[in-house]
Amino acid sequence: MIMSSPAETVSPVVTPTRAEHRPQFHPKEPAPSAAWLWPKGHIFPEMGACAHAPAAVRTYVREMLRVWDLPGLTENAELVASEITANAVTALTDPETIDEEHPQGLPRMIGDRIATITVRLRTDDVYLLIEVWDLAEGMPEHKDAALDDESGRGLAIVGALCEAYGCEPRKGGGKSVWALLKKPSVPGGRQRHQEERQ
Ligand SMILES: Nc1ncnc2c1ncn2[C@@H]1O[C@H](COP(=O)(O)OP(=O)(O)O)[C@@H](O)[C@H]1O
Ligand SMILES: [Mg+2]
Repeated sequence: MIMSSPAETVSPVVTPTRAEHRPQFHPKEPAPSAAWLWPKGHIFPEMGACAHAPAAVRTYVREMLRVWDLPGLTENAELVASEITANAVTALTDPETIDEEHPQGLPRMIGDRIATITVRLRTDDVYLLIEVWDLAEGMPEHKDAALDDESGRGLAIVGALCEAYGCEPRKGGGKSVWALLKKPSVPGGRQRHQEERQ
């Protein structure tokens, strides 16, 4: 099978991550998810939309990137995945359940099932695609957080760390919020490699 790089295939969405040029959020854009782009993938099974979900997702991301030998991506990927997951948890929390015993509330019920979140990771060893699916109403939207606001920065953080990000409504309800990260190149890597060969 002939593989092409995601950068070629998703060029309308992918923009380089530079301080002066952050990617735009694509609120109705499918993730670059054609299966053949991603030789490696793994799904963290549905989990209840509980307050501990972002921490569980961080651990999962760390483990998968260790298995896939992508340590340079771990820090940013953990942060991006946990921000997106935290948003899904907030959107799926029933505010009426917030009390002393459950200060962060409990997941809503969707029909007779507890609301859940599903996370998928895919990689071609250079790019990492993080997708978080939820059935919550509403869509992610960028907020212009004031300096003293305590919230409203999650998506801005995601945008600062990824190559592209967006949200894809899913058939049957809900959506997938996705972010594409790129493995950082090792500074001086080529030079160091040449020095080692001399
Ligand atoms: N999965 C989601 N489902 C529904 N709404 C979402 C989701 N993710 C984000 N949002 C909306 O986008 C807003 C901005 O998210 P974010 O930048 O992380 O700020 P914060 O979470 O601090 O409000 C949220 O306040 C929420 O209204
Ligand atoms: Mg948030």
